[in-house]
Parts: sequence; structure tokens; C-alpha cells
Amino acid sequence: MTDAKPVLHLDDIVKTFPGVRALAGVSFSVMPGEVHALMGENGAGKSTLMKVLGGIYQPDGGAIYMGTDKVVMAGPLEAKAKGIVFIHQELSLAEELSVAENIYLGELPRKRFGRVDWATLTERTDAILKKLNVGFDAKTRVGELSIANQQMVEIARALTVDAKAVIFDEPTASLTDAEKTVLFDVISDLKSEGVGIIYISHRMEEIFKITDRVSILRDGQYQGTVATADTDEEAVTQMMIGRTLDLSRNASHHELGDVALEVRGLSCGKLYTDVSFEVRRGEVVGFYGLVGAGRTEIAETLFGLRDPSGGQILLDGQEVRIHSPADAIARGISLVPEDRKGQGLVLGMNCRDNMTLPQVDDLKAGPFVAEGAEVAIFDQYRDRLDIRTPGWKQQVGNLSGGNQQKIVIGKWLSMHPNVLIVDEPTRGIDVGSKSEIHKLLRELAAQGYAVMVISSEMPEVLHISDRIVAMYSGQITRTFTSDEVTEDNLIQAISGIKSGQAA
Ligand SMILES: Nc1ncnc2c1ncn2[C@@H]1O[C@H](COP(=O)(O)OP(=O)(O)OP(=O)(O)O)[C@@H](O)[C@H]1O
Ligand SMILES: [Mg+2]
Repeated sequence: MTDAKPVLHLDDIVKTFPGVRALAGVSFSVMPGEVHALMGENGAGKSTLMKVLGGIYQPDGGAIYMGTDKVVMAGPLEAKAKGIVFIHQELSLAEELSVAENIYLGELPRKRFGRVDWATLTERTDAILKKLNVGFDAKTRVGELSIANQQMVEIARALTVDAKAVIFDEPTASLTDAEKTVLFDVISDLKSEGVGIIYISHRMEEIFKITDRVSILRDGQYQGTVATADTDEEAVTQMMIGRTLDLSRNASHHELGDVALEVRGLSCGKLYTDVSFEVRRGEVVGFYGLVGAGRTEIAETLFGLRDPSGGQILLDGQEVRIHSPADAIARGISLVPEDRKGQGLVLGMNCRDNMTLPQVDDLKAGPFVAEGAEVAIFDQYRDRLDIRTPGWKQQVGNLSGGNQQKIVIGKWLSMHPNVLIVDEPTRGIDVGSKSEIHKLLRELAAQGYAVMVISSEMPEVLHISDRIVAMYSGQITRTFTSDEVTEDNLIQAISGIKSGQAA
């Protein structure tokens, strides 16, 4: 490092919540033009630290410096006024407003008599959107956008501020590769302008691609800062979790059983057309494609959230019609949805009740039995998935992002489905738990479940699938066995280049 003054210096920050010491004295600096990674397992304290920096939480101890000045971030607006821009892990947009209104909320350009200057607003917004190369415009209602595009709106909003430091809390969790490339260009621009960047991510390849230094937290304790160039994945993992991980390809092969799920010529309007595939008991089938390829919509159809416009669904060889999630659950289909915030969790409810929600009726043998059974289910999956919470009574909204996701996964796994569909199972999940979830999905298959995994992470799909279905623009372009798939032919298949071997 040069002898330039840090943009930001965190000095011995402490923050506790009831029953949780989230930060136990964390210190590090961010230099101008530096991309500084902040890493740690789910619940390690990353988001909490950033919320302290962003004025959302007040620390119980320690101080924040900008340059040589000690500063107090009394609230989010003050942090913003000091040039600290925050791109949150949880999206914080107003769905009923337009993209432009969201980006300039609180600072809408005004004409005389205080009327909003819509022309200027639209023009300014479209200029930023153009830079980000997105496929929507200033007037689009945010609620109509995919999660990935909503994330791009958050990023656009950050670019309107004259920033000294920008915090990205898992910005790529729902972005496609193309959007990621745009994001990395944005980061590289900010870097060359001397902005300090804090980058939180569980994705090692990104950390090693774009960051200069890495600071590591474990259970709220600061573990140290290392130059990215001087370290490697294994060393960082070791610092994060205190042990090394076996990340070798999952080789567990087992006998395949009968076809549990078969889909014949299924269509859903323009979302996807003429889709056919089957999933056997004992099999993990990965669905890979770009966002918008139709994978999530297929999952939603199988779970009774969308009515197909044509084709057939067969379970154990019998044609079925699935009109609602209750129908799907009754037939043994579980879906771990992509948007866990919106579709999976009741944030104000405790951990145990969230996990057993779809099963309460079955567990109601009597108040005591039900309580015990519910807690037992929660305990089992807490241990299995390593969910970090002081206890089952904790409100789910108070868990870290990754731990919230584990609750949803536990909820659907505990139903013992015949067909388990998981949409982006490890988004926001740390490396250790990620390999645990992969193992768990393989094990469930080995026990005779039919497992469908939708993922936008190629290494994940390659790692856990027995077969891979590649989709492009609502159609299956090719189905691969794990022996014949390569990164190249998979990329080709999801880019719309049809090969002779259609599924
Ligand atoms: N408002 C709150 N009330 C109670 N506990 C909280 C609150 N916010 C965070 N915590 C707890 O503080 C700890 C740190 O959470 P934090 O969200 O900072 O983790 P994280 O490192 O961002 O994890 P992830 O990778 O899962 O996003 C967790 O144990 C979490 O449950
Ligand atoms: Mg977090």
C-alpha cells in the first residue's frame, strides 16, 4: 500500500444483539481505489458491520474514521451525505414505483411549484441505465422486474451519488454472467476514480478476480486482512471456518430408480414451449440457462403456481393436474423457491414455525406432541444445515441472509418429498454450508428422491448433476449426461446454438 490516507478506517467495532455478539472488535481500513473483500460464513457479522458503517445500526463500541476524521453515522441519510453508498443484500426498493422514482427517491428533480420534472428524471435515469446496459427503461415499474434487474436498479441508484466508498453486500447473488460483467466494469470505473470499495461475496472466483485485499470475520471476530494476490481459496476458507474443506467433485454414483417425474411437451404461453424431460428416483437433474430461459417458470408450473397451456405432467407414470401448491405438496412435490424473501419466509415469525409451516396440520396430534415434533424437526435441520441462531424462538427476520435461506431449504427438505425442486439452492450461502447442501442433495437422491436443481452457477450444476438440461429462451436445447458435458458445450447450449442432439 502507498502512504495515502485510508478512505475508511473501522476501529474496534463492537455490536451485540440479544443473545448474539455479532461483532467483537473489528478493525480494518479501506484505501482509495481499493476493492476490499469482506468474507466470512453465514452469520459471521458482515452485513451487521456494513449496517454500522451505513448508519443503520449504532455500534456498542469502537469508532469509524474517514480520512483522519472520526465520524458518527447517526443514520443512513448522514452516511449517504458523507459519501458512503450502500447496495444492500436485501433489496430495498418500492415495488409500486417506477425505476426512475426508485433511483431518485427523496431527490426527484423538481420544476417550479415543486412539481416533479418527469422529463429530466427520465432522461437522467435512462442515461445511467444505458451505462449499465439493462433491458428495461426509466418508466418500468420495479415490481415487474426480475430480482436480477431489481439488483441492477439498486446499483444504478448508487451511481447517482458522489461516492467516497461503495459497499456491495452480495451484489452478484442474483445476477447473470452478462450482468456481472457490467457490474465489474462499474466497479473498475469507481476504482479508477479513487473510490474505496467494500465487496461482500461468498463466491471465491469473484474475490480472486476483482479484489485487492480480503478481510475475514469468523463469529464476529476479526481474523485478519491479507492481500488477495498473496493468498488462495484454501487459505481464505481456513481463516473463515477454521478448517479446510474437501471441494472435490461429488463422485457418489448410485442406482437410478423408476421415473418419478415426466414432463411431455409442456408449454406455458410464451414463457416456455414444448418442454420434455424426465427425472428418475435417485437422480439429480440440473437445469442450466440464462435468466429468462424459462427454468423457474417450469418449476412454478410443477408446483401449481402456474397453469400450463399445453402438454402433460406425469408422476410415477400417472398423468396429474396440479392446480395449487397444496395440490403439489399433497402429491409429494416440494419447491425451494428462487425468491426466498417473497415466497418462502414469514419474517416476523420464529425459526421453528417458519420451518414447519407447510406441515402444521400433519403435526397437530395434540398441543404437546406438535410442539415437540416441531422442535425436533427444527433441531434436526439446524444441525444438518448449520443454521446459526440463538434458538428456535428467534424471529427469522433477525437471522443473517444465508441463515434465512437455510431455514427455507430445511422447511422443504423436512417434508420428505418425492420430487424436490430447488431453485438456486445456494445463493448467498457460504462455502462450507454450500458443500454441505450439495452433499445433502446428493444424499437425498441416493435415498430415492428425484431432485431437480435450477442454478445459474455453472460449477454448481456441473458438480451435483447426474444429467444437465440446457435451456435457451423457453426451450430445451440439449440434455447432457455428466460424462459428455463440458463447460464449452454447455455454454453453447444455453446461448441458443442448437446442436443435432435435441432432448
Ligand atoms: N437485528 C438483529 N437482531 C438480532 N440478531 C441479529 C440482527 N441482525 C443480525 N443479527 C445476528 O447477528 C449475526 C451476524 O449477522 P449478519 O447478518 O451480520 O451475518 P452475515 O455475515 O452478513 O451473514 P450472511 O453471509 O448470511 O449474509 C447473526 O447471528 C445474526 O443472526
Ligand atoms: Mg449478510
